[in-house]
Amino acid sequence: MNTIYKCLRQQERQLGNYSIVPLRYEDRFLIMKWRNEQIYHLRQARPLTEEDQQRYFDNIVSKLYDNPQPDQILFSYLEKDICIGYGGLVHINWIDRNAEISFIMDTSLEAEHFAEHWSNYLTMLKAVAFDDLRLHKIYTYAFDLRPFLYTALEANGFVREATLKEHCYFEGKYKNVILHSFINHQYDIVNYVDCSLDQQKEILDLRNLDCVRVWMVNPDVISEASHLQFVENLKEDKNRLYYAVYRNGVLVGTYNLTKEKDSVWERGIIANPAIQGTGETEKWERQILSRISCLGIDRVTAKVKQDNIRSIRYHEKVGYKELAKDKEYVYYQYNLNGK
Ligand SMILES: CC(C)(COP(=O)(O)OP(=O)(O)OC[C@H]1O[C@@H](n2cnc3c(N)ncnc32)[C@H](O)[C@@H]1OP(=O)(O)O)[C@@H](O)C(=O)NCCC(=O)NCCS
Repeated sequence: MNTIYKCLRQQERQLGNYSIVPLRYEDRFLIMKWRNEQIYHLRQARPLTEEDQQRYFDNIVSKLYDNPQPDQILFSYLEKDICIGYGGLVHINWIDRNAEISFIMDTSLEAEHFAEHWSNYLTMLKAVAFDDLRLHKIYTYAFDLRPFLYTALEANGFVREATLKEHCYFEGKYKNVILHSFINHQYDIVNYVDCSLDQQKEILDLRNLDCVRVWMVNPDVISEASHLQFVENLKEDKNRLYYAVYRNGVLVGTYNLTKEKDSVWERGIIANPAIQGTGETEKWERQILSRISCLGIDRVTAKVKQDNIRSIRYHEKVGYKELAKDKEYVYYQYNLNGK
């Protein structure tokens, strides 16, 4: 059976030892076993038989791969090459550009590794949903039966959007259904060379804040004259791209890319302290990452000071892969095309 999704540019996503790959035929009976063990939180009326599962794979799953706009995209979630979960984007609405998230893991992992696997999975699925499919919103619809699920979702930037009161009947009681969502807001990304003088001053003020420059490779205060000269030089420089990022006219951060070699570019990032910690930075960086492959960029690298714990945490959350460490820095890389 062909298991390459026509609708995806990148078939697989990886995070350390974990990956998501187009749903593998060979995993069907493992999945059936987990679904039957966890039937209590699934929208499934009765246990699945092997015939049911075979029929589902032959009639439904097999048709998803070649469809340019399928209503669901399913993945096997692997540790190395072993399937330890499955899920994907379901009820995909291509007009409103939203989709529901589904995921279940090997039942034996739930007690001790629930949050860790949800977090890995969501990091990779966000890249599929936003970087590849350019969806606007992804959401979960979950019965109020697994308290750890809500904590795991909220730790990954999802917000509790709605509670459907007493929406499901479970063991003699009506239970709530809670919707959590993650919206991929649109940001305006403006090259420094196109910014007005007032915008340049605002960018420089952000760069010169003590709490920002302390983390820079060059932590010195930069003068206005030197900044303006730098921007002037950018006009002729094909190896440096500097952007200011705005949401509704408010400067949310700056982003720069410097060519290292061929298609590998080093990036720098500053988030406006007013929006740090709100989860926005990840959203605007994802928007940029989803657009720069057309500039011939395949890989983005970053180096983060060892004691910049916030930034280290941030890079891991976004899905940057640690390449190396020395006394001063941790070196990261983000692959745009999975090469
Ligand atoms: C690095 C930076 C871009 C990240 O953006 P941000 O909006 O602060 O990032 P987020 O809040 O989404 O993520 C930071 C993570 O670190 C965690 N964190 C924050 N302070 C922390 C601390 N002192 N110790 C450990 N973790 C911390 C946050 O909880 C968050 O993780 P979570 O989402 O899992 O809860 C931003 O902090 C920044 O601009 N810093 C100053 C400049 C800089 O350091 N640039 C990068 C140079 S490599």
